[in-house]
Amino acid sequence: TGELPAVFRGTILHFLRDPGADDDPDAWELFEDGALAVGADGTVRWAGEWSALPEQHRGTVIDHRGKLIVPGFVDAHIHYSQYDMIASFGAQLEDWLQEYVFPAERRFADKDYAERVSGLFLDTLLACGTTTASVFPSVHATSVDAFCAQARRRGMRMTCGKVLMDKQPEAPDFLSDASLAQAEEQTRQLIARWHGTDRLTYAITPRFALSSTDEQLAMAARLFHEFPGVALQTHAAESLPETASVLDRFTDARSYLDVYDRAGMLDARSLFDHCVHIDDQDRSRMAATGAAIAFCPTSNLFLGSGLFDLAAARDAGIRVGLGTDCGGGTSYSLLRTLNEAYKVVMLKESTKPEDQRTSLSARRGFYLATLGGAEALYLDDHIGNFRPGKEADFVILDWAATPVLARRTEVARDFQERLFAQMILGDDRSVVATYVMGRRAYARTAE
Ligand code: GUN
Ligand code: ZN
Repeated sequence: TGELPAVFRGTILHFLRDPGADDDPDAWELFEDGALAVGADGTVRWAGEWSALPEQHRGTVIDHRGKLIVPGFVDAHIHYSQYDMIASFGAQLEDWLQEYVFPAERRFADKDYAERVSGLFLDTLLACGTTTASVFPSVHATSVDAFCAQARRRGMRMTCGKVLMDKQPEAPDFLSDASLAQAEEQTRQLIARWHGTDRLTYAITPRFALSSTDEQLAMAARLFHEFPGVALQTHAAESLPETASVLDRFTDARSYLDVYDRAGMLDARSLFDHCVHIDDQDRSRMAATGAAIAFCPTSNLFLGSGLFDLAAARDAGIRVGLGTDCGGGTSYSLLRTLNEAYKVVMLKESTKPEDQRTSLSARRGFYLATLGGAEALYLDDHIGNFRPGKEADFVILDWAATPVLARRTEVARDFQERLFAQMILGDDRSVVATYVMGRRAYARTAE
């Protein structure tokens, strides 16, 4: 819906870089009565104050005055194949995988089921203001076909790739690749079919170190380097028992992350989910190689995995995005995820000397949910802010989504306070509309 070119009017906030722990004022742009001009091709032409909109960018006006316009949220880590088992009770990572996750993912062998769930999943993301995600499907090649077809139909920028898992008992029989050769062949076919098609990026996706044989890990690394532009994603150092099991099996490795480093997986476009239990040496390797982290606070709390050290990762210069990690995570909303990220940072920082403590500002939070995620996924040439030429994916947020948020916004002293209230009190109810390439892809029904 909607005619392009168009100009979207409202309060506009976007980021040019990480504002950092001390809130660098040059890192963002705020246009209180702003204009976002989107061209016929769905890319950003211009963003600034409404009063300064150049003549050549005038067009159909879509009026969102009184609302906040930010770039579409980027979910750096999520499992569409866990849509039906979110909120599963009472187990930590390893038992939770065996009891709940693997039986649920088994159903994705069925293409029709996978298509249906893909549709539900993507519409849920849009309703939360999420326009891009790095997604785990299941081990089944058809689960990638189903997902990519649905993402393409919605015009969304998505990263996905068949899960690789072939080592028992961590990978159950019924969810294991039939052979090394078949897993490689399927991956090659899927890359040929989907990588670079419309807005899709393929990611080589070994599930985690424990569920792949050494041979499969090596194959994954080899394919990652063979195809320029193809990404790699995997879980890393999520829980302590998992980390201990990894060190048990890989006796030469210095750390969990070192297993991946030795396999040759740390590079630009590699993304490691969680990284709760890493050290300074791991961090300097990640920074040096360009490897990124997905910080998944609701999942880390729900599964009792631990407290991620955001300040240490960013201080080391590592790219960090925010992940919901649903079904390990408990909300599809990146606003709700920021709420829990804030609390994780508070707890983690409380273990540091008082004069070194930081907290997660609203601005840094919104940076992480937008440009930070785009940088972690190496998609910041395309998305993440409103620089001219970027793809016009954006969200309209309501300052008055709930009575509590409305009141807190009304009494706030400045924009920073209002933004923090949105970060802590906001969720999918805040999302008035979500636009993909300048076209409305979701609208709140009450509107
Ligand atoms: N580690 C290996 N597989 C998974 C998964 O599906 N979810 C989470 N949170 N961690 C994992
Ligand atoms: Zn995960």
